[in-house]
Amino acid sequence: MTQEGADLEARLEEQEAFEPPESFVEQANVTDSGIHEEFEENWPDCWERAADLLSWDEAYDTVLDDGDAPFYEWFTGGELNASYNCLDRHVEDGAADEAAIEWIGELGETRSYTYDELLTEVNEFAATLRSLGVGEDDVVTLYMPMIPELPVAMLACARIGAPHSVVFAGFSADALATRMNSADSEYLVTCDGYYRRGDALDHISKTNEGLAGVEHEVSDVVVVDRLGDDLEHSLAANQHDYDDLVADYEGETVEPVSRDAEDMLFLMYTSGTTGQPKGVKHTTGGYLAYTAWTSRAVLDIEADDTYWCSADIGWITGHSYIVYGPLALGTTSVMYEGTPDYPEKDRLWEIVENYEVDIFYTAPTAIRAFMKWGKEYPEKHDLSSLRLLGTVGEPINPRAWKWYYKHIGNEACPIVDTWWQTETGGMMITTLPGINTMKPGSAGPPLPGIDARVVTASGEEVSAGEAGYVTVDKPWPGMLRTLYNNDERFINEYWQEYSDEETDEWVYFPEDGAKVDDDGYITILGRVDDVINVSGHRLGTMEIESAVVGVDGIAEAAVVGGDHEVKGEAVYVYAIPEDGYDADAELEERAIEGVLDSIGPIAKPEEVLFTPELPKTRSGKIMRRLLEDIASGNELGNTSTLRNPEVVDDIAAQVEDD
Ligand code: WT7
Repeated sequence: MTQEGADLEARLEEQEAFEPPESFVEQANVTDSGIHEEFEENWPDCWERAADLLSWDEAYDTVLDDGDAPFYEWFTGGELNASYNCLDRHVEDGAADEAAIEWIGELGETRSYTYDELLTEVNEFAATLRSLGVGEDDVVTLYMPMIPELPVAMLACARIGAPHSVVFAGFSADALATRMNSADSEYLVTCDGYYRRGDALDHISKTNEGLAGVEHEVSDVVVVDRLGDDLEHSLAANQHDYDDLVADYEGETVEPVSRDAEDMLFLMYTSGTTGQPKGVKHTTGGYLAYTAWTSRAVLDIEADDTYWCSADIGWITGHSYIVYGPLALGTTSVMYEGTPDYPEKDRLWEIVENYEVDIFYTAPTAIRAFMKWGKEYPEKHDLSSLRLLGTVGEPINPRAWKWYYKHIGNEACPIVDTWWQTETGGMMITTLPGINTMKPGSAGPPLPGIDARVVTASGEEVSAGEAGYVTVDKPWPGMLRTLYNNDERFINEYWQEYSDEETDEWVYFPEDGAKVDDDGYITILGRVDDVINVSGHRLGTMEIESAVVGVDGIAEAAVVGGDHEVKGEAVYVYAIPEDGYDADAELEERAIEGVLDSIGPIAKPEEVLFTPELPKTRSGKIMRRLLEDIASGNELGNTSTLRNPEVVDDIAAQVEDD
């Protein structure tokens, strides 16, 4: 390294604050530093700024209706259609030939959809769904990987007012069945398979296995043929080939259905404390306004940008920031089917260069992998088209932040570290890239209009430097409205902790721990419930535990997250074999299979450790903290409060052996 290079590294290493680059500020969508105050003063009417980004069929009469809190309603009386907002209006405004989606297949094929072409496909598939009998408010499950038919199906559902429920393609057959059962979903769109690192994966067998577990009658299944001759498969009587069906509706148009602002746009299942996933309900007006607004203010998206979020559409990040937010703004959204290291570790940078990507949004786990692979991969490519970088999903360590800033952004792109959740619909805590100083490792202040605080267990705001819990005191348009068919659980999960029902003061509790500094910047410390974050994916330890305990020969199990260099956290299983079973490799294999079958490869345990007992307190509670420390290789604290302190040494010794 040259002296100059070394000096630069050293400076970056120590620097704790970064100003937004001047070149960025000059062109930023939001540059008015008074925006936080302005939103505070005009709350909740400030949110009209978000609603104004949309085209309404019927104007709303009320910005916020808090009459039945915490069942808040936004933009009530208003009517709109999400697919119209993401497609037709851009075509009508002269952007028919602008690219809407640039899709890149793993094997190198590409498909480019202009707004006009995407609208045509969405119209045809909307007509197809209708012909199958899908009506307004029927939940359509989409069990699909990153192929263009996924956003097409989402927007087709939105067009006819049928909420979609996307199930991440990596989830297991069981997970599909659980979600279809919970949503009473009678329609499914899926595919025969897809490619991963060049291999053709069978998805239809997994789909069929899942369908066997659906308790109600499934009317129709539409199957996209992604693999052609690479996979032989047959279709059951109620299963139809996507292309065959759509061929009958070529050129058909479907009038977008005017939906009430509060009508459901989609359901998204996410993990919680108990074994049962939660069906988070998002609505048409508030969600779309909020994702459009945050896409504009935080990601700085403009219509003529090429924007790329590398998430999977099967998660909320892809819903909000590959599909709805970016398309509502009429930009070009890049969609990549494959993995970042296939065929080579420079795949993403090759795409950035080829498509002249302006804005790139990814997860810290990916950045840590890029760091590990080395700077030579991005250095092979011209990344000078980039203007803004973003991260989401988990805390980013300052070292990874600085690497991203230097080696991907060339110190010329601001980084937004965006904290939010499936439930919040869109970003909540982040710097505004044209205004706020960036502090690596800290997400930043709450967005304008977002009343997030860090409080003690009893709800008092913590002083700077102290740790506490994140709460949000005021509602926001993108918030979940309830858990599907389960208002009671909605209240219990999110509102019980800090609200005062007597005085009708409702406080949202996201179940994250955090610290705040003198400037009001919030550093997220991680979940405080039994949810772990593996590579930016949220997994319930209880879900994994019940999968392990469901395995023959396992009596009891505890699942915790342990630190992992690339994944952030990894899954560690501690299990007690049943009498008569050996704690051997076969049992371990079956425990892992159990997790793969009930959830999927994302939840694959890093290690399964057998132990005759789990460390328990005198009152019989499993000491998870301790197990986490063992998994993470941390110093173990005081174990004297345990009923059975001797098991700790036993387990720790096993970990060292491995
Ligand atoms: C949990 C939500 C938001 C889309 C992806 C994950 C963690 C999210 C950050 C961030 C630190 C973060 C939180 C949150 N998280 N973003 N920028 N810094 N932690 O959505 O699956 O609903 O998970 O992800 O712990 O509660 P999700």
